[in-house]
Amino acid sequence: MIIDFHSHILPGIDDGSKDISMTKKMLSMEKNSGIKAIVATPHFYMSEQSLDSFLEKRDRAYEAVKSAAEAEGLDIYTGAEVYFTPSLMDVDLKKLCISGTSYMMVELPYQKLSGNFIRTFKSFVGSVSSEIHLILAHAERYLNFTDEESLYEILDTDILVQLNCGSFKMFSPHLRFMNNLIANGTAHLLGTDCHNITSRAPNMDIARKAIDRKFSHRAFLRMMNNAEEILNGNIIGD
Ligand SMILES: [Fe+2]
Repeated sequence: MIIDFHSHILPGIDDGSKDISMTKKMLSMEKNSGIKAIVATPHFYMSEQSLDSFLEKRDRAYEAVKSAAEAEGLDIYTGAEVYFTPSLMDVDLKKLCISGTSYMMVELPYQKLSGNFIRTFKSFVGSVSSEIHLILAHAERYLNFTDEESLYEILDTDILVQLNCGSFKMFSPHLRFMNNLIANGTAHLLGTDCHNITSRAPNMDIARKAIDRKFSHRAFLRMMNNAEEILNGNIIGD
């Protein structure tokens, strides 16, 4: 089963789909690339809105697209792309987990990751790990801002790695990094991170073809199986 684990497909909630009409087109594109389930992960910035207000808006947007998704034969799961800040410790993170799971997707700041930041993040991971399983959103993207060594320090925690499908395009600067993670079995999930129907459209095929060619279809399916296990409420190992 092909699952898009990262999307901004819910309308009018963040910088993703702007309305239900665009969402319907995105759903249709997802279906055409063989996708059966989508995890909706709108941005959550704790500094900008309260958790309750975010959840209320997200759930309203979800209700608005549920029937359109069903009509396409697609399942939608609600989650969030949670921007990391130490004050996340003060909220009930279970509410930000992907529906029916203990997995929460976290996004790091787009800057050079200092030793101080890495220590703070590691302490956060350690303090929530008994209840919350973390997924790092589009791990490769941070290499636009920080060095590999710092990023590997983040990955060396109890965190799963999600990669963006679009980063697998030919001549992508992050291919070597991503291929290393796949070769080591430390890339767990794939997401399109789709925001619209043009510049950031659903693009699972880019990753599927690249991984099939470089590794095998089995390597692609391994990541899809991880996604399915998580959505079934199971905990996956490294
Ligand atoms: Fe995203």
